[in-house]
Amino acid sequence: MRFLYENLVRPALFRVDAETAHNLSLAALKTGAGLVFACPKHEGLATRVAGIRFPNPIGLAAGYDKNCEVPDALLSMGFGFVETGTVTPKPQPGNPKPRLFRLEEDAGIINRFGFNNVGHAVFLERLRKHQASEGVIGVNIGANKDSADRIADYEAGVRTFAPHASYLAVNISSPNTPGLRSLQSRADLSELLIRVSAARPKGKGTRTPIFLKIAPDLTDEELSDIAELVLDRKIDGIIVSNTTLTRPNLRSPYSGEAGGLSGKPLFHRSTVVLARMRQLVGPDLPLIGVGGIDSTQAALEKIRAGADLVQVYSGLVYRGPSLPCDLAHGLAKEMKRLDLKNIAELRDQGVTDWAQRKID
Ligand SMILES: Cc1cc2nc3c(=O)[nH]c(=O)nc-3n(C[C@H](O)[C@H](O)[C@H](O)COP(=O)(O)O)c2cc1C
Repeated sequence: MRFLYENLVRPALFRVDAETAHNLSLAALKTGAGLVFACPKHEGLATRVAGIRFPNPIGLAAGYDKNCEVPDALLSMGFGFVETGTVTPKPQPGNPKPRLFRLEEDAGIINRFGFNNVGHAVFLERLRKHQASEGVIGVNIGANKDSADRIADYEAGVRTFAPHASYLAVNISSPNTPGLRSLQSRADLSELLIRVSAARPKGKGTRTPIFLKIAPDLTDEELSDIAELVLDRKIDGIIVSNTTLTRPNLRSPYSGEAGGLSGKPLFHRSTVVLARMRQLVGPDLPLIGVGGIDSTQAALEKIRAGADLVQVYSGLVYRGPSLPCDLAHGLAKEMKRLDLKNIAELRDQGVTDWAQRKID
């Protein structure tokens, strides 16, 4: 399957502009094409994190299925969980096109979508239809660009989706909504976390875990503030990380485009930040490692650097739809080779090493 993708499908998709290719892939999944990549389950990879049972620790990161169109098709491809969104209260068009660029020479992507999405009401209708499925579907929530009270937008996201989602991801780290990342500063974050926790409805949804998704461009002092507040406010976990505004040694002609960089060039930075966050929060808080995973080796490094779960996005573009299944197979093989009962036995083995590495 990978051979077919890399030699036939990818060259065809890479001939059209990146956003059209993305929309074509969604359209293909709507026709049921995901079933071609159906993946056998590896029972040994099942893991429990934040009270949720994940069939395997490999998730799809936010931003691929922004409007909750194909979560079941994605789950059938072998993902242990799918994070839909980012969704904002009101629908919005996002930034003008072009806003998505493939950096082929670097195996990276730059995007400046700016939260284009259908809004809470339409998204909720779609999510409800998928509730019958057993899969783990998270909802990543954000704020509208023109919102007068951005924290109120996150509260609305929690109220709306907590009864229906497996978990919520509070995304304050997109670089494409001006000013949004300032919610990561100590004073703003403190208020945000108090208000989103309090917004969980009574009854159904009262226990829905809330994860905070952070940027990879934070100073050690900012990371330390975030760790302290997350522990203090009893947030259920941290997703490390979103895309970076930095541009480390890129070769692609698109490297000067504005927006967030993801894929291989993000791997080092996001893994160092993950390991530092693990040192700050201690062993008990769930961490989800994201950024530049495109191989079993890269997924294993994230786990060694402190991740309980991992997510991929850009790797799918370069490696194709067999990636989640290849990763699950690769992790299962590694467990067998090392005679592990659970892949979590590898967690944290590389934290000290990764945390002390320099970020360029
Ligand atoms: C095209 C694109 C759109 C994205 N949209 C979102 C989004 O809406 N919300 C979000 O939290 N992250 C979004 N991300 C970030 C990813 O979820 C992920 O954190 C990041 O790409 C790093 O993972 P990767 O290197 O595997 O792509 C987007 C990434 C890409 C490439």
